[in-house]
Amino acid sequence: MAPKHGVLLANEFHPETIQKLDEKFQTHHLWKLSSDKKKKLIQELQGKCDAVATASWMVDEIIYELDSLKIISCFGVGVDGVNFEVTRSRNIRVSNTPDVLNDAVADIAIALVLATTRNIVNADRFVREKKWSQGPLPFGMGLADKTLGIVGCGRIGEEIASRALTFGLKIAYHNRSPKELPYRYHSSIADLAEASDILLCMLPGGEDTRNAINGDILRKLGPTGIFINVGRGSSVDEIALASALQKQHIFAAGLDVYADEPNVPEELIEQDSVVLLPHIGSATVETRRAMGQLVIDNLDAYFSGKPLLTEVS
Ligand code: DGY
Repeated sequence: MAPKHGVLLANEFHPETIQKLDEKFQTHHLWKLSSDKKKKLIQELQGKCDAVATASWMVDEIIYELDSLKIISCFGVGVDGVNFEVTRSRNIRVSNTPDVLNDAVADIAIALVLATTRNIVNADRFVREKKWSQGPLPFGMGLADKTLGIVGCGRIGEEIASRALTFGLKIAYHNRSPKELPYRYHSSIADLAEASDILLCMLPGGEDTRNAINGDILRKLGPTGIFINVGRGSSVDEIALASALQKQHIFAAGLDVYADEPNVPEELIEQDSVVLLPHIGSATVETRRAMGQLVIDNLDAYFSGKPLLTEVS
């Protein structure tokens, strides 16, 4: 039997996939080691291992010390954790897991729209705290004829839009340039915020989008406006968002992603008008399994000299 190919696993991104990778390849579990032991392992693997599998949004920089590194197979679509300066300069190939998570992320976006507009989390607490008999909760906001503004309308944004249409929402969007879409285009986020009842952010992470949603944008959204983020936390000034909620410059917010996960700023946790999810956009059994399979298929393709299925260019 041919020896198994070596794969360095940088973090425990999906236990079921890790198990499959363990069965198929000669794996090394980097995340379990202290920093000294990580360095030692990297030295031992020099010239013997050329592949890494990792979560796409948090890549341990130590992997770049592996001089023989040739491929990073990422679990996740948003590859903001990858250091492309290094990968490009050393011709390290990078793959990700696009498309298989579109439905799951679009579903969680709609869940946040409903949770915020209808005050679902506070309503649940209201019942549990036995407050129902003391009077009604404040009314929620209906969706029909309201405008959902999508910042960063890529493939997932389009899935969100098609779901939102069934609730009677009107769709508008902002991208760097207009797309062939039957929705109203706004050339700036500020204009889109002004035209939207619900502003939904799907921006990727990275320096280009850092704090793209700031206090000015939130003021444009206005006191009845709702802000949702299912893209990347770094695109939002979280302290400005907490302040906008506290001062009621906007009505509510729903977040699945944060700038420094798993840390969520106390300023946000203190606000009742924000729904906070622990980055579960793609977290369904089916979707995470499909993402894991793509990680494996990309490694298989690499080792057999075939084109990667989903290479990030
Ligand atoms: C991704 O794949 O980028 C998602 O954020 C993971 O849930």
